[in-house]
Amino acid sequence: MAATAGGSPGDVADVVRAELRQHGAAVVELADTLSDEDFRAFGAHLGDAMPEIAPAVQPFVTDGVILNLVTRHAHTADTSLQPFAENSLSLHSEGSGRTAGEQPRYIVLMCEDPGADPASAQTVLVSMSVVLQRLSAEDRAVLSRTRYADLPAGETILREHEGREVFAFRDFLHDELKWVNEGDDGDDAVDRALQALLAGMYESGASGVLWRRGLLVVIDNTYFFHGRTAGVSSPAHPRHLKRLRLR
Ligand SMILES: [Fe+2]
Repeated sequence: MAATAGGSPGDVADVVRAELRQHGAAVVELADTLSDEDFRAFGAHLGDAMPEIAPAVQPFVTDGVILNLVTRHAHTADTSLQPFAENSLSLHSEGSGRTAGEQPRYIVLMCEDPGADPASAQTVLVSMSVVLQRLSAEDRAVLSRTRYADLPAGETILREHEGREVFAFRDFLHDELKWVNEGDDGDDAVDRALQALLAGMYESGASGVLWRRGLLVVIDNTYFFHGRTAGVSSPAHPRHLKRLRLR
């Protein structure tokens, strides 16, 4: 069920803030889509917009911080183009390859146009606390001592944040995840914990967003993993979401 909001960017932010406090995510039906200026003003009520600096995405960036997710490509193996292609996107927390301080807190998505097939390319949310409950105490402990190999010490896959246990993790699918264990857990124990985490993420219980024009979704990156089901590119009527990442 979506809350409704109209009026100024500040009014929309008030509705979103209340939803975030209660659910860790907000789904809001806007009276109309926000202009880029109002979209940025809305975001400024929740945090600082992170610049989109990756060279590959520049053709899709407006105002330096708004990423226009438009389905332009058929299925592609080029990961930098996959957000703009028919590919599904595996479950992840945003910026899992960065330190906690450099990860966004909120991902804001606003639908300009759901495209020719609104049932495809659904954004999917999976609650971190539900995944956590599916893990044994042992697996949790191992994950809290394991990090991506190229991150600094302490930047573990499971970590404490504001008194809660929070994940920073991406399902790399067929790519290798290079990890380091900061304790003395064996390779087998780490592999088991990672497999249990992945199994927990993909067990039933995901929520899909059926996009329609004017729908605004804000994801707290410390409460939910997110991903996307496969889409269809329709050159005549592409899907178009606008995204902000806020810190
Ligand atoms: Fe993402």
